Amino acid sequence: MSRITLSSLQRMKQQGERIAVLTAYDASFAALLDEAGIDIILVGDSLGMVVQGQASTLPVTVDEMVYHTAMVCRGSQRAMVVSDLPFMSYATSEQALHSASRLMKEGGAQMVKLEGGREMAETVRRLSMAGIPVCAHLGLLPQSVHKMGGYRVQGRDDEAATRIQQDAQLLQEAGADLLVLECVPRELAAAITRQLHIPVIGIGAGADTDGQVLVLYDMLGITPGRRPSFSHDFLAEGGSVVSALQAYVTAVRAGHFPGLEHGFD
Ligand code: KIV
Repeated sequence: MSRITLSSLQRMKQQGERIAVLTAYDASFAALLDEAGIDIILVGDSLGMVVQGQASTLPVTVDEMVYHTAMVCRGSQRAMVVSDLPFMSYATSEQALHSASRLMKEGGAQMVKLEGGREMAETVRRLSMAGIPVCAHLGLLPQSVHKMGGYRVQGRDDEAATRIQQDAQLLQEAGADLLVLECVPRELAAAITRQLHIPVIGIGAGADTDGQVLVLYDMLGITPGRRPSFSHDFLAEGGSVVSALQAYVTAVRAGHFPGLEHGFD
């Protein structure tokens, strides 16, 4: 079976077919996500929090991302596998090239994701010119939690919203192939989704993006402690992991998830 490609994602955007994305960190879950029809598996550095029990994503290393990415690639055949560049593994373009090549050569990822706005444009350009597909990440940036002063909705005032919108355009022009928008008001996410020709995947960004992503452990209700308000426990309704995953894919494709209660004004 061949994997979902960039052109499949582009076609889905053009045809208004919603893209279903979830995180996974091991081969068994990756196989289940594949079976449920998930289009993109994100090996998120959220693994630092939900798998390793760290207080943030900051301690995650490139070695750990390579390890988990390789497991996810072995477990899946159809979904595109996107792997996070962890904190401080892309502080310079040279470092980004080195870290990304490890995620692709040793881990087997088809795309890498990095956090940040216009300041990352040159790095995105360098990666893209080297033939590395890039997913940009704007809005709430978990790797910058200390700079942002907590996990907060971003882009609520006009100035911040304009900056995020400009960043999205600049990253697309630099060669980004996909954009994750995390915790921004739904109207801002909708405007960016209309403005860009690359697919936009939302998390806590309302229903009007080209696709949705959730952290797997949040949508199965197994993350310890408080779960984000934009998530939903699909396992509580589904009764089994397989039916929870299928329910998520169906709800995203039909535009039933996220509901109004999962977004921000
Ligand atoms: O690390 C992660 O799981 C992510 C998602 C929250 C988008 O970046």
